[in-house]
This record gives sequence, structure tokens and C-alpha cells, in this order.
Amino acid sequence: MTTPILMLGAGNMGGAMIDGWRKAKAFAAADLMIADPSPGLAAQAAVKAGAALNPADRDLARAKTVVLSVKPQVWREAAAHYAPLLAKDAVIVSIAAGVKSSDIAQAFQDRAVARVMPTTAAAIRQGTASLYAATPQALARAQALFKPLGTVVVLADEELMHAATGVSGSAPAYLYAFVEALEGAGVAAGLAPGDAAKLARSTVAGAAALLAKSAAEPVDLRRQVTSPGGTTEAALNVLLGDHGLPTLLREAVANAVRRSKELGG
Ligand SMILES: NC(=O)c1ccc[n+]([C@@H]2O[C@H](COP(=O)([O-])OP(=O)(O)OC[C@H]3O[C@@H](n4cnc5c(N)ncnc54)[C@H](OP(=O)(O)O)[C@@H]3O)[C@@H](O)[C@H]2O)c1
Repeated sequence: MTTPILMLGAGNMGGAMIDGWRKAKAFAAADLMIADPSPGLAAQAAVKAGAALNPADRDLARAKTVVLSVKPQVWREAAAHYAPLLAKDAVIVSIAAGVKSSDIAQAFQDRAVARVMPTTAAAIRQGTASLYAATPQALARAQALFKPLGTVVVLADEELMHAATGVSGSAPAYLYAFVEALEGAGVAAGLAPGDAAKLARSTVAGAAALLAKSAAEPVDLRRQVTSPGGTTEAALNVLLGDHGLPTLLREAVANAVRRSKELGG
């Protein structure tokens, strides 16, 4: 039994999950409890639909699944407050970046723990979630939460959560940075800023949508739009050159992995 679900924190990411569940009709609003001193819009909408906001302490013991979705800086404080109030068999599903499952299990009095690195596209059911849990029961609970929200990848080893953070959790920002840079390049090439913004944004969003719908590999899609000796090839000679995207992304992901390890302690 996955529900009732208690969200400890419902800001950007917790709110995205709540939005996605509503769109997927995954859980009834009445099966959600939200503990957050300043709930975001998605949480407020769920409360209007029947979710409980900041329930009384005695009600927290009804939660079968507890989502730890506060900022990593305050997770210990939240755990210390809520752990004594939860049922012994409640499963903790943590989305806190970098916080180890052994630390979470300890802070939540040895309850079963799953770790997840999600993305905010969960709000439109196109999220990507990397999952790790030491027990099949906790893994199944995380899958029940995240399968309705998009793609799920189960990691064999908790250490790989750092790599998944670099390649997935942090990566939506890489794509937004790419669009910003493409827009800037458009302005440098003479386009009006508004036109450059529209062209960059819409082209990248359209290409990503095609990628999502296609069974072809990215390399094949790239080749399909690259004529030998043409304009695209001229640009790719720079982008895929010695100091181009493959090198840059390897360095960028390695830097994210390093930072994830530092934050995890
Ligand atoms: N955002 C992303 O793209 C993303 C992606 C992957 C993973 N994550 C992870 O998701 C977690 C949440 O990130 P976020 O961006 O959603 O943060 P956020 O927008 O700040 O949301 C956290 C919410 O928790 C509330 N809160 C603070 N202390 C609390 C407590 N003791 N009990 C209950 N609620 C409390 C906050 O209220 P106040 O504002 O009043 O403090 C806020 O509404 C982080 O651990 C992050 O690593 C985020």
C-alpha cells in the first residue's frame, strides 16, 4: 500500500510531483498529506482538491509513504521533527540531492529508504527519475511514485546517484543554458533579439519533442539533418571538434559529480 503519501516539503520539486500525479490521476488528492510552512501553487491546488495541509501530529502516523522533499540544508531538522510521529513501517522516499540513504535511515529511526533524483518535468509527466534502494520493498515504493511521472532508471549502486545527478538531475539547466547561448549567437548573427529568442526556444523544443517520439538514436537523427558539405556540417565541425560538446559535457558532468560528492559529505 503506497497511500496515504506524506510530502515533507512541497516547493518546486515536490510541487512538480503533485502536479504530475494529478495529471496522471495516480493518487486521489485525499490520499495526500502535505507538511510545508509555505506550500507552493501545486500544493495549494491539491489542498483545494482535498489533500490535507499541515495535518495534526496524530494523523501523520497514517502515512505509508513519506517523501522527503525539503532542501538538503534542512533535511536533518525535518527528520528530527517528523521521525517520532511516523508509523514504524512508513517507507521514506528521499529526493534530497546528495544525502546518503544510510544517513536518512538513521535519522528516520531505521525505516526503509529509497533515494530518487528526479527532474521538474515530472510536472508534465515527462520527468526522469534515477532510483536507488537497498530493499525491493523500498524500490517498489519509489517506482509506484515515479512511474506515473515519466521515465524511471533503477541504479544498481548508490554511488551511481552522483553520476545520475550530473547526467540527469542537473541536466535540464544545461539545455536551458544551450538555448540561451543559441539565442545569443542568433543576435550576434544579426537577428532581432525577440526573433532569436523565438527561433532558439522553438527549434530546441521541437527537436526535443521529435527525439522523445522517435525510436531512432540521437546520432541517426543528427545524421538525417546533416547534409555532407552543408551548413549544419559546418556548425558541427565546431560543436563536435576537439574542444566541443563531448569534451565540455564530460568536464561539466565530472564537475557536477565532484560537487555532488562534496555535498553528500
Ligand atoms: N528543483 C529541482 O529541480 C530538483 C531536482 C532534483 C532534486 N531536487 C531536490 O528536491 C528537494 C527540494 O528542492 P526544491 O527545489 O523543491 O526546494 P524548495 O522549492 O525550497 O521546496 C522545499 C519546501 O520545503 C519547505 N520546508 C522547509 N523546511 C521544512 C520542514 N521542516 N518541513 C516541511 N517543509 C519544509 C520549504 O518552505 P520554505 O520555503 O518556507 O523554507 C519549501 O516550500 C531538494 O532536496 C533538492 O535537492 C530538486
